[in-house]
Amino acid sequence: MIIFNSNHICLSYSLNFLRGILKGLAAFYLAGLSMTAHADEGSDIYKKACAVCHAAGVPGIPDAPKLSTRTDPGFGENWNRRLFAGREALLRSVLDGKGAMPPKGGDASLSDRQTEAALDYMLMQMDKP
Ligand code: HEC
Repeated sequence: MIIFNSNHICLSYSLNFLRGILKGLAAFYLAGLSMTAHADEGSDIYKKACAVCHAAGVPGIPDAPKLSTRTDPGFGENWNRRLFAGREALLRSVLDGKGAMPPKGGDASLSDRQTEAALDYMLMQMDKP
C-alpha cells in the first residue's frame, strides 16, 4: 500500500519507532523482574509449603525442627545433628519425606528444583548471625 500523505507516513514511522522502544523497555523490565523472582523464590516457597511446620512448630507435629539462626537458643539441639548429615542428605529427606514430614512438605505441585530452593532459603536463614 502506498501512502500519499507524508504526515501520515511520518506519524506511522514514529509510532513504530516508539513501539520498538517500548518493546525493548518491556523486555528489560521483565528480565529484572524474573531476576528478583528467582532470588525470592526460595523464600516464597518456604512460606507457602514449609513455614506451616517449621516457623513455630505445629501442635500435632511436635518434632518439626524450628527454623532459627545458629545463634538462637535451641538451634543446636534442633539442627546440629541434621546439618552434620550434609545438604544432600537434607534434600533427600525433604524430597522423599522423613518422619512426620511428607514428601516436599506435602506440596506435590513443587518441582524438585523449587523444593531445593526452599531448603537453600532455610539454610541461608540458619546461617545468619
Ligand atoms: C507437615 C509439616 C512439615 C512441612 C509442611 C515441612 N516439614 Fe520439614 N520436617 C517436618 C518434620 C516433622 C521434620 C522432622 C523429621 C524427622 O526427623 O523425623 C522435618 C525435617 C526437616 C528437615 C531436616 C531433615 C533431616 O534429614 O533431618 C529439613 C531440612 C526440612 N524439614 C525442610 C523442609 C522444607 C524445605 C519444607 C518445605 C518444602 C518442609 N520441611 C516442610 C515437618 C514438616
